[in-house]
Amino acid sequence: LFSQVTAAPPDPILGLTEAFVADQRPGKVNLGVGVYQDESGKVPVLECVREASDRINAEGAPRPYLPIPGLATYYNLVRDLIFGSGSEVAETGRVAMLQTLSGTGALKVGADFLSQVSPDATVLVSDPSWENHQALFTRAGLKVGTYRYYDESAHGIDFAGMLEDLGAAAPGTIVVLHPCCHNPTGYDLNDEQWVEVVKVVRERGLVPFVDMAYQGFSRSLADDAAPVRRFVESGGPLFVSVSFSKTFSLYGERIGALAVVCDDADQAARVLSQLKIVIRTNYSNPPTFGAKVVSTVLGDPELRALWEAELGAMRDRIKAMRRALVDGLVAAGVEQDMEFIARQVGMFSYSGLTKEQMLRLRSEFGIYGTDKGRICVAALNPRNLDPVSAAIAEVLRG
Ligand code: LMR
Repeated sequence: LFSQVTAAPPDPILGLTEAFVADQRPGKVNLGVGVYQDESGKVPVLECVREASDRINAEGAPRPYLPIPGLATYYNLVRDLIFGSGSEVAETGRVAMLQTLSGTGALKVGADFLSQVSPDATVLVSDPSWENHQALFTRAGLKVGTYRYYDESAHGIDFAGMLEDLGAAAPGTIVVLHPCCHNPTGYDLNDEQWVEVVKVVRERGLVPFVDMAYQGFSRSLADDAAPVRRFVESGGPLFVSVSFSKTFSLYGERIGALAVVCDDADQAARVLSQLKIVIRTNYSNPPTFGAKVVSTVLGDPELRALWEAELGAMRDRIKAMRRALVDGLVAAGVEQDMEFIARQVGMFSYSGLTKEQMLRLRSEFGIYGTDKGRICVAALNPRNLDPVSAAIAEVLRG
């Protein structure tokens, strides 16, 4: 049975963590995976999460199966976080909401459903995008292509190219968009550009799938969700996947959600019934703890305020690390203009380093980033900044 099975390559992101863990060098630094670390290099346990967990544990409630779509208190609070409280989609009941196994689970449930209702559709992802987008939609049986996004020479976005590609896409094409903190580049569209993207997506009859894994990591909870709300206002179908891995530092709890905005409540109920089958035939129903933690925090005014403060502190620390990296590179003798790193937003920087340079960083200095040159600036801290800056300077010298 297994004699024909070939060995698959390691995952381009999580495979780096495997290699990092196996690396015995004491000074190694993992800037590969998108995980926020604090000043001391640890994945934080947020205070709001600690408090919520204590309350849940003290309650000692039994753990029966959750319903197939998950914990209702949870996904209703998440709906309000995505669309704003008292949103029209909540009032009219025209959004199907589901608790999912984080953002990846939301994408896969959405992708499986799309491949059922629109099997011939093509999915377009940004060039480049999070590597799992392409893999996941392909695995769901859909054709995947790209739209232009990154402009290497301008250290920014090829917006004209993006509009042109979206404008040429066939009606029904599914377009995966990052509302904030673009992964991997760190370059986001501005408000005016979003207006134009929403317009072309709707005029062409494309299906937006907005992947929001970093709400609150760029500007604010409301500002970062603005593209989603623009799509709602413009009418038409909309998929939104969200993750609380980064914003609640709950990576291992696999807690996220999928929202599917429909024309009316009746349509949303029918869509939900199909999404439930996707879940039931994959993992039956989702786990309890992460949903309880997030809903306890979002549903309690004091814990919610604490979370927003902790989220703001993570956002500010990432910005400070960007600035410090640019300054560190200058101090280490880098002559190229690296200011673009400070202009990018979110956890990642597309550093502009080549695959060869990234491999050298790994093999000579124990510094892990992706082959494509993405580094996680949210894993920088005052202790690793100087060695990282010095190593990057060294590989840039050639
Ligand atoms: C990343 O891009 O590093 C994160 O989203 C983690 C992952 O699952 O790839």
